[in-house]
Amino acid sequence: MKKITIAIDGFSSCGKSTMAKDLAREVGYIYIDSGAMYRAVTLYSIENGIFDGDVIDTEKLKKAIKDIQISFRPNPETGRPDTYLNGVNVENKIRTMGVSSKVSPISALDFVREAMVAQQQAMGKEKGIVMDGRDIGTTVFPDAELKIFVTATPEIRAQRRFDELKAKGQEGSFEEILENVKQRDYIDQHREVSPLRKADDALLLDNSNLSIEQQKEWLSEQFGKIV
Ligand code: C5P
Repeated sequence: MKKITIAIDGFSSCGKSTMAKDLAREVGYIYIDSGAMYRAVTLYSIENGIFDGDVIDTEKLKKAIKDIQISFRPNPETGRPDTYLNGVNVENKIRTMGVSSKVSPISALDFVREAMVAQQQAMGKEKGIVMDGRDIGTTVFPDAELKIFVTATPEIRAQRRFDELKAKGQEGSFEEILENVKQRDYIDQHREVSPLRKADDALLLDNSNLSIEQQKEWLSEQFGKIV
């Protein structure tokens, strides 16, 4: 069976990762969460005194970026990949509000994007990959055979993120999360380099009123039309 590249882009907390992970498992493809890579760079910046939330020491980050190694390894307990930063499992740390509130300014930096896009393209060289993010269909894999752009209302997305954090026992008020979702949407759409936008040839999916099961079905159907 021929292998293709699948790009799933969209707004924050719209369920992209869930659908991307499920599809990858179903069809035996590699799954890469590109947002986790920007989150890992952000965590590195916080922990190494590069970003205090106000000012980014871009010179220091420019020097450090080549030494930031991000990889993914399967977690036998969850059956999903965990994110590793320079060999250390940071999966839980990168999902906190502390990182979520600082990730968009870091990912707006051109040299950070350049480094991440190069790593992502290397990961997808052999095809057979599902990658989710903001610029996968437009910049990372412009020739992807299947491109999806996912959206849902900010309130629904904030509720999903709230439930997710609560399930992990992490703090966060609904209002704070909603504000973060809106803020990230704004920065992601208005940055100069690779702003979040739907690729012209991407299929639009508004999943505000879809269950995970319905969304899964829809995606499998789209995959089946191509492969
Ligand atoms: O997907 P997730 O919400 O975890 O992504 C975190 C942040 O990383 C986004 O808000 C965005 O600023 C950035 N990002 C990006 N390009 C990608 C994936 C994520 O700029 N391909």
